[in-house]
Amino acid sequence: MNPAPSTAPQALTVRVLGSAAGGGFPQWNCNCRQCAAVRAGSPHHRARTQSSIAVGGPQDWLLVNASPDILTQLQRSPALQPARALRDSGIAAVLLCDGQIDHSTGLFMLRERGRPLPLWSTRPAHEDLSQGNPILRVLGHYCGVDWHELPLDGTAVRLPAALEAPQLAPLRITALPLDSKPAPYSPHREAPVEGDNVGLVLENTATGGRVFYAPGLGAISPAVWAAMNSVDAVLVDGTFWTDDEMITLGFSRKTARDIGHLPQSGAGGMLEVLGRLPVRTRKLLIHINNTNPILDEASPERRAVEAAGVEVSFDGLELLF
Ligand code: MLT
Ligand code: MN
Ligand code: ZN
Repeated sequence: MNPAPSTAPQALTVRVLGSAAGGGFPQWNCNCRQCAAVRAGSPHHRARTQSSIAVGGPQDWLLVNASPDILTQLQRSPALQPARALRDSGIAAVLLCDGQIDHSTGLFMLRERGRPLPLWSTRPAHEDLSQGNPILRVLGHYCGVDWHELPLDGTAVRLPAALEAPQLAPLRITALPLDSKPAPYSPHREAPVEGDNVGLVLENTATGGRVFYAPGLGAISPAVWAAMNSVDAVLVDGTFWTDDEMITLGFSRKTARDIGHLPQSGAGGMLEVLGRLPVRTRKLLIHINNTNPILDEASPERRAVEAAGVEVSFDGLELLF
């Protein structure tokens, strides 16, 4: 007798394609202790590509942020290359959390599509990518994009059936405006507007599983805190360990908070915030800058993160929800 057909709801996957912040790890021109250690093959340092995740699977995926390293990331992710036709990709659509270089320039690499690329972003990110850094206008000379506005009023988005990505049907996405900064080429760099950056609640309506994803998070608003408390896993901004990290190293005159990233250490830092979440919530850092000492797996900072029950995500990590 055949077993009864399985009625278990289908889990969705979050696959970390790139766990580093802009610049990657190692960064091309950086000879800091950590970047040098990766190049030297240190057993305590793992190379990382720039910020992106893919959501869905096993064959239909939503690409969330389009990293400049996307071609490498796809080579390392066979599931995103299901090869169902002579020209084919598992990427059914793209969603952008902001209009920064590390999250958007990978769109150029998708230009060989036969049909316009289905793309979700907020209106301000769409403006940045049409004006300050007109990637979307340039793409218009290739495949073009089929742009959909990501609402900021809490309305959830579901991907339309016309995308022919049935495995993404249970996915519901809610964007949350974040306190952060738009890119330097944004017309409102110094006067951020709502929607420059968003975090996402990703929900699998079949399993009830929920994940919060916010690779650039400058402050924890009440709405963000509520979202973080409503999920099974948070995948949040791991850019800097200290607020003055880039200043101390002599790389910048701006603090982490100045450029829209909440550092992990110190009062009100990300570790303190994560420590207030329920114990059962899985807590992961993503978008980690090459200067961050947590990238040295033998460092006291890395031990402090792990002792706090927080994971440091890495390229290829998968999370089911
Ligand atoms: C950021 O997250 O602050 C930006 O992506 C930095 C950059 O890539 O220049
Ligand atoms: Mn970034
Ligand atoms: Zn470095």
